[in-house]
Amino acid sequence: MKSVDVLTAKKILEGGDVVALPTETVYGLGGWIHSEQGLKKIFSVKERPFFDPLIVHVDSTPKARALSSEWTDVHELLAQKFWPGPLTLITKKNTSVHPLITSGLDSVGVRCPNHTLTLQLLSKIEGGIAAPSANKFGKTSPTTATHVFEEFGNTISILDGGASEVGIESTVVGILDGGKKIEIYRPGFITASMLEEVLVHQGFNLKVTYAESPVAPGQLKHHYMPRIPLVIVPQDFNWNLDKNLIEDQLHLSFSNPKIWVQSEDPLLASRELYESLRKFDLEGFDIILTSKLPAHNSEAWLGIWNRLQKAKTLAL
Ligand code: TXA
Ligand code: MG
Repeated sequence: MKSVDVLTAKKILEGGDVVALPTETVYGLGGWIHSEQGLKKIFSVKERPFFDPLIVHVDSTPKARALSSEWTDVHELLAQKFWPGPLTLITKKNTSVHPLITSGLDSVGVRCPNHTLTLQLLSKIEGGIAAPSANKFGKTSPTTATHVFEEFGNTISILDGGASEVGIESTVVGILDGGKKIEIYRPGFITASMLEEVLVHQGFNLKVTYAESPVAPGQLKHHYMPRIPLVIVPQDFNWNLDKNLIEDQLHLSFSNPKIWVQSEDPLLASRELYESLRKFDLEGFDIILTSKLPAHNSEAWLGIWNRLQKAKTLAL
């Protein structure tokens, strides 16, 4: 593995190349926001289409504000309460933001990740680092340096910061109408209730809603997919009796199913999510089956089920 330290990572980024970075959510594939070459490389290495905008990572609220043309009181409050942490704020961008970062949109996503090494790197580099998850487009996101290595080999330098604690990508929040309307575009560890509690406490009488359909570009139907089929089955599904239901629909036969019972604790479940999807494949299973249990219906589970719905091949 091409492991680098913080100073080397900074030099590589400033030289127009990419580096994989640890964050508390998932590993990112970073490019310096002031290097067009670095930004282009993110898309080519990931095989990512240009219509999918990148999140800019910063180590402070002033650096986020410096990218914005409309930093509202709501942005300021949420940044102060939840950063560093797994929350991405969408804000109207100013002209300093390269169009490659935003796919030509007039807004930009910013977040301050909660990871010591990446915060150190961000404090040493001017502006910020654009970083999508460090996986090939549409595939399972990496939560360890080893996952990044498995995906890209020695072609990418990695700042190894151990396993990501949260395990799923940040909550993406749109702040619209000058701060009067708040929508969650991508659910994550930080829920609507957590945001509302902070807002109400500070005297903002605002509802936070989950956006219905994929309003955020890049929120495609299929995403995060493991290499073997993932099938969501009812709780009473019996493999021996009912496996033909799946085989008929997928036109394949399976001999080694992984019956995957997820933890009831959403924190544990999200931390293990991507690691599990990768592991079952490597362990020789040829299909993964999982069910939504009654315990999985709470708001804290929305982010996990959002990822599983996109990663699945089939739901019965
Ligand atoms: O936790 C995370 O957010 C990770 C780590 C590396 O920070 N990053 C991440 O990036 O998940 P990525 O590229 O996999 O997801 C970025 C998504 C886009 O697909 C889009 O849905 C949303 O963030 N996004 C970015 N900029 C946006 C904008 N201007 N308007 C709406 N959505 C935006
Ligand atoms: Mg991603």
